[in-house]
Amino acid sequence: MATIIKGKEVAEYVLADVKARADALLARGITPCLAVILVGDDPASQVYVRKKKEKCEELGIRSLQIHLPAETTQQELLARVEALNADPSVHGVLCQLPLPEQIDEQTIVRAVRPEKDVDGFTCRISADERDLMPCTPAGVMEMLRYAGVAVAGKRCVVVGRSNIVGKPMAALLLQADGTVTVCHSKTRDLAAVTREADILVAAVGKPHFITADMVKEGAVVIDVGVNRVAEKKLLGDVDFEAVEKKASFITPVPGGVGLMTIAMLMKNTVRAAAQQTI
Ligand code: GUN
Repeated sequence: MATIIKGKEVAEYVLADVKARADALLARGITPCLAVILVGDDPASQVYVRKKKEKCEELGIRSLQIHLPAETTQQELLARVEALNADPSVHGVLCQLPLPEQIDEQTIVRAVRPEKDVDGFTCRISADERDLMPCTPAGVMEMLRYAGVAVAGKRCVVVGRSNIVGKPMAALLLQADGTVTVCHSKTRDLAAVTREADILVAAVGKPHFITADMVKEGAVVIDVGVNRVAEKKLLGDVDFEAVEKKASFITPVPGGVGLMTIAMLMKNTVRAAAQQTI
């Protein structure tokens, strides 16, 4: 039976350090500030934005909420981002995704100054300590560290190649000296590849896509999936009940990786504030 890596526990561990760093900045008269832009009224995005605001408040981080109408043009949004880029009292800037279809996401993501890009979307994942890491993959790395799982030399398989999770996840595992394979919808004999994994990261966006026959005995299984299957029911990408019996470590959904994303966003915000006010 696998040991469950609890997101709440790891997030609290990370946030205790973030709080101490935020307090140290406050003692120097610097209030870390995160600006969050929400365009339109996507209900899931509204929930995420509210959670970010609440977490900021808990930690003494100033949160600036900018809510723009769904018909905002790319030009208008760019002007907002540029104003926040230029404002020295704002240390982190993020646009909640997805954006309405008249706006090109990559153009907006690239417009945020790298020093303020607390989502870590423009991060090149080099060994530069000043880089702000992408939140969800960085959260996964924290969970592995917390559980005492070494990555160096391990076979790591990431299922999913999104810009937000799959690709940066693979890069971080590689940075940690893992031997990394990325699988996607065109991968042949997926199960044969996933069965090779010592560390398996599922970021596919399909409920219970990873079944027990796809997992090696003793593997570490990280579930990044958040699939809403009913009003109040979230399912991960991993068939938890069956896979738990084979894995050595596993993360649950809910209560797993999801809680790490916001913790890492707070960590990036406080780091950004510290780096901009040296
Ligand atoms: N939409 C879904 N996940 C994210 C995230 O991590 N950051 C932003 N900005 N938008 C998202």
